[in-house]
Order: sequence, then C-alpha cells, then structure tokens
Amino acid sequence: MVVIKANAYGHGLVGVAQFLERQNVRHFAVGKVQEAVSLREKGITSTILNFGPFSGEEAAQLVELDVSQSVYTDAVDMLAEVARRLNKRAKVHIKVDTGLGRVGVPYYEAGPFIERVASISETQIEGIFTTFTEDPEFDRVQLDRFLQVCDAAAQKGISLGLRHAASSAAVATFPESFLDMVRPGDAIYGLEPLPNLDPRPVMSLKTRVIYVKRLRPGDAVSYHRRFTAERETLVATLPLGYSDGYPPQAVEKGQVLIQGRRWPLIAAVTANHSTVDVTGAEQLQIGDEVVLFGTQADQELTIGEVADWAGSSVYKVAIGMNPTLPRVNIEA
Ligand SMILES: Cc1ncc(COP(=O)(O)O)c(C=O)c1O
Repeated sequence: MVVIKANAYGHGLVGVAQFLERQNVRHFAVGKVQEAVSLREKGITSTILNFGPFSGEEAAQLVELDVSQSVYTDAVDMLAEVARRLNKRAKVHIKVDTGLGRVGVPYYEAGPFIERVASISETQIEGIFTTFTEDPEFDRVQLDRFLQVCDAAAQKGISLGLRHAASSAAVATFPESFLDMVRPGDAIYGLEPLPNLDPRPVMSLKTRVIYVKRLRPGDAVSYHRRFTAERETLVATLPLGYSDGYPPQAVEKGQVLIQGRRWPLIAAVTANHSTVDVTGAEQLQIGDEVVLFGTQADQELTIGEVADWAGSSVYKVAIGMNPTLPRVNIEA
C-alpha cells in the first residue's frame, strides 16, 4: 500500500497514482475523503484507504465509491447505515493505537471494538493496522501489542483481512513488522535517506527566467529595498515564490541552477517572485530554464540542500509544494 496522502507528498496525487497503478501497485492510502474522491473520478480502481475522518455526507461517498475507511470509534455506525441504505458493504480497516497516541482504538480496549465491527453485517473488515512511533525499541513493543490484538480476534474466529504496520522507516529496518502488507510513503518518493535503502528524490522544481535587468550601483531590489547593488549587477527574476511552496527562509544561503551553474538568490523570496544574482552569465535570455532543485547539465542541487538552507526537512519542502503548480511526470 503506497501512501499518497498530502497530494502524494507534494508530487501530485493523480499523476503519482496513475504511474503506480501502471507499476501494479494495487493499494493506496490517502488522508482526506476528497483525495479518494479525486482518485476515483480520475479512474483509479485500486483499493483506496482513507486514514482521515469523515462526515455523514462523506460516508455516502465512501460507500458509493468503494473507498475503504479507517475506523476506531462509533463513526463506523454511519458507514453501516449508509451501506444498509445502498445495499452495499462498507469496507473498513480498524485502526489500533499501540502507543503513538494520535488516533485508533487503544490496544487494551480493541477486542470489544473489533467484535462489534465484526458483528455489523454491512461492514467488511478489509484490514487492521497501527502506526509506529519510529523509536526502534518501542516499535517492537507496539508490534507485540498489535499482534496480541490480532491473535485474540483470530482466536474468536474473526477475520481481520490484511494486517499492516510498517511505514518507510520500518520497511528499511524492521522486517518482522511487514505482516501482510507494508505502507510506505516517504521512501517511495526518495525523500529521506534510510538505512539499507538508497532512495533518490524523484521531484525536481523548475521554472524559467521571466525578466533580466542590469542594476546600477545603488539600485535596489524587492520590498524595503532588501538588496542594494554595490556594483553593476545582473539580476534574473523568477516567477516562483513562497505561495508556490519554495521556502522563503532559504533565501539567505539559497542558490539555483541556470546555464549549468549555481547562482545566489538575493533580496527576498516573495509570494510569487524570487530574484537571482547572475552577474557574469553570458547571453542570459528570458525563458532560460532555472532549477531550484534537481539537475541541470552535469550539476545537481538537491532538495536536501534547500531544506537545510531553510532550516526545514525534505519531507516538509516536498509536501509544501502548491498543488496548483503544474506537475510534469517523467517516467525514467
Ligand atoms: C498511518 C500512516 N501510515 C503510513 C504512513 C507513511 O509514512 P512514511 O512517509 O514515513 O513512510 C503515514 C504517513 O504519515 C501514515 O500516516
């Protein structure tokens, strides 16, 4: 099961799902009902599990569109009611909290809840799952708690479907936790280095120069004249700013690639624009490609560098990319 919540971690929900279906991935997880609806509207036929909450109206969408839902409270009754009305079965994955403490029926109270869900004829238990704290020692405790819950239900003759627990960190380091299915997000996109895996980031961020100007000494750029030229300075303006997801904090140390070379960002990253000192660039043209992270010629500027400049993480930079930015999917 590939986690494609948060717009596929910024990569573009539908494009990523379509690509992964072509690679024979048959299970997806999302964080919001609307993401599941968009996927079904675009023809994604695989299992989609919604981790997030749902309203009464959304319960009908979930059942109609055959979307599986994470359940751990009485909200399961809303699904059952809708399923009864539609003469269908609502597919559910029971979420067990084994120590992360966010959502899920606590492992020590899970038995009665599982029995209750199993007794509702309009629901089908397609799976049961938990989320690790990613503290390796405690993950083992959590796995034991989870397996005890699953075994106790199995002994009562309850069929739980797929048992799943491992997100990327556990996929890399904790094979005992693989159970019936693994559930990575991060590693699929190559976002963070992981032990035993050498993922490469698949996302690049590119734009084009929209304006080039030569500053005279004393000329300034941006609000409050943030940058003032001390010498003649060639400046390229980019149509990309923090509203697009580029972290404004990166500006102090930030660089971009143009003509296969690194050039410094100057002044400020504003909502829709950034500026670059390209003094010395030859024949720079409006329309020239700019790489904010990714490769150009034989040069690479990584999303990790951008995250470091911004005091952020690769994960947050990727997830923060504005969903309206055009995604171009390149299959390598
Ligand atoms: C329930 C659940 N499972 C799996 C994942 C995937 O985690 P990761 O991106 O670390 O692989 C997430 C993401 O936050 C999640 O919320």
